[in-house]
Amino acid sequence: MDYFSRSQENIETFCLKLPKIELHAHINSSVSEKTFRELLRTRNIGNTQLTSLESSVFRPNEKIFASFDDCFDIFPLIHDVTNKTEAIYKVTSDVISEFESDQVKYIELRTTPREELLTGMTRRSYVDSVLSAIKDSKKKNLDIDVRLLLSIDRKSTVEIAWETVAVASELAAASDGIVVGIDFSGNPKINDAKDFIPVLAHAKSRGLKIAVHLAEIVNAQESHQLVELCPDRIGHGTYLHPEVGGLHKSVEFVKKHKIPIECCISSNLRSASVPNVEDHHFGYWYQQSHPVVLATDGKGIFQCSLSGEYILAAKTFQLNHDELLQLSKNSIDYIFADEETKKKLKFQWTEFSRSLSKSEQ
Ligand code: IMP
Ligand code: ZN
Repeated sequence: MDYFSRSQENIETFCLKLPKIELHAHINSSVSEKTFRELLRTRNIGNTQLTSLESSVFRPNEKIFASFDDCFDIFPLIHDVTNKTEAIYKVTSDVISEFESDQVKYIELRTTPREELLTGMTRRSYVDSVLSAIKDSKKKNLDIDVRLLLSIDRKSTVEIAWETVAVASELAAASDGIVVGIDFSGNPKINDAKDFIPVLAHAKSRGLKIAVHLAEIVNAQESHQLVELCPDRIGHGTYLHPEVGGLHKSVEFVKKHKIPIECCISSNLRSASVPNVEDHHFGYWYQQSHPVVLATDGKGIFQCSLSGEYILAAKTFQLNHDELLQLSKNSIDYIFADEETKKKLKFQWTEFSRSLSKSEQ
């Protein structure tokens, strides 16, 4: 009996040791409770306020947020604590180490360049801090390859979006390959995504990869406009298919162009974006052999891990060890880095498979 035929192999243990690829992780949503507490302790605030802030951000319940809107109220609380470059550096460093401990071999972090008048942090110094943390993590010889997408927050202005693309373009050529693209995110109920389409199209024309949050709520027309941009990956796509209010032509387009869907199951459950795990759209796309990648979105505020996402998918959609390994390996094809990087990662996965077979002998 080979490794994959052993049905009794513990799925949790397997998912924990499985090498993984993380492609949808917002830096500030990924901050761990430990890091958040350490940052809070550097502030001159009383214990009561500290505990209250901590419990507002890290909620103990299973369904952490009462409504989808609710989770967007948390970001300002985190941003208030990460309002200077030192804090951004620390959060980025800690998030990288934490993912590495979860056997994540390649990660594309994403974050919105932010200005804070109070501390003098500029959007540029913000990005420089994130880049320093990523570069320093390389020096620590961590077994994880880190890349970066700069996020455009749709709540912000189109002018800032243009600036973000300009900075990403400049850094794509001058960051040793770390900056690879643009993310479009933010509260889908705010502003019209249509206004940002020329900016995203320009980013694509400049050779930047684009990952676009879309169909997080039922908004078929807007979602279709974003789909027609032919993004390199789709964030969520929860309400894309006709059974949940999307358009048939959107699904056809996504299938025709094989646009990978970043599925963040725990995030969608905990932000009340999908009612229950069985109905999560991962099942819809996976069953049709469409490219899907499991991701955490915000491992801090949604209290999850990438291993946990694999375990949840395995238990909900009855995935065996072989299918889980394929799922994580296929994700390599959807990363935004170059072919050489993909080749290296595939080698790591082959070695992992070998180690499993050896353990059988
Ligand atoms: P940051 O960009 O590192 O500050 O991460 C937090 C930001 O990511 C938020 O302010 C939102 O703009 C964005 N974000 C995080 N989660 C989501 C989501 O589920 N949908 C849309 N935007 C999100
Ligand atoms: Zn997201």
